[in-house]
Amino acid sequence: MIRGIIFDLDGVLTHTNEQHFQAWSELAQQLGASLPDQIKDDTRGISRMDSLAVVLAAIGQADRYSPQERFQLADTKNKRYQKLIEQFTSANLEPGAVELLQQLHAMGIKIALASASKNASTLIDRLDISHWFDYVIDPAKIKQGKPHPEMFLTAASELGLTPQECLGVEDAASGVEAIQQAGMKAIGIGTDAVVQADWRFKNLVEAADWLIVFLKEQNNGKR
Ligand code: BG6
Ligand code: MG
Repeated sequence: MIRGIIFDLDGVLTHTNEQHFQAWSELAQQLGASLPDQIKDDTRGISRMDSLAVVLAAIGQADRYSPQERFQLADTKNKRYQKLIEQFTSANLEPGAVELLQQLHAMGIKIALASASKNASTLIDRLDISHWFDYVIDPAKIKQGKPHPEMFLTAASELGLTPQECLGVEDAASGVEAIQQAGMKAIGIGTDAVVQADWRFKNLVEAADWLIVFLKEQNNGKR
């Protein structure tokens, strides 16, 4: 029986992948290189420092910087990213996001957020959706990022549920893997990045329509 839904944020409830990519692209430019589009998928779901490693490898500068310089580079990217999302409001939510959160809440389904982003709690405040979450992961307290299952296992346990009682919603290959490694089924949204998901949808509206029917059927004993 599904009693909890664990959401990723970037690329699922709001479209920040463009802003993350733009900030990384500008950093690459400062380093005299340009980033291939593929980096958008390759950095989805993974932490800031892991994303920096992916970016530096993509521009052939993997071994050029000291740990301190790497922190500075990541900080430069983050400051730019924060500027790009400064004006975000509920208008930047994915279509259908609020309706889905409302419906899940009304059905008594527990809701958690499992984002790798250290900007996530500020962002959900700006998007005006913080109040819908029963639990929000603090990525600073997570030892192993996606694709490791720690975030999803922690979220399920904080909701008081077993992994089998939860579904995860993701737009990233690393996130889908993390959900499945946690012993949950994964709903994938968007690109080919989520090809391994148990169910795939073009966008959140389509996923929401399916999910609500799935949960209603479950409650009526049809599943
Ligand atoms: C994830 C994004 O949600 O958060 C990644 O998909 C990003 O692109 C990661 O690198 C970490 O975000 P932040 O805001 O802590 O740099
Ligand atoms: Mg994401």
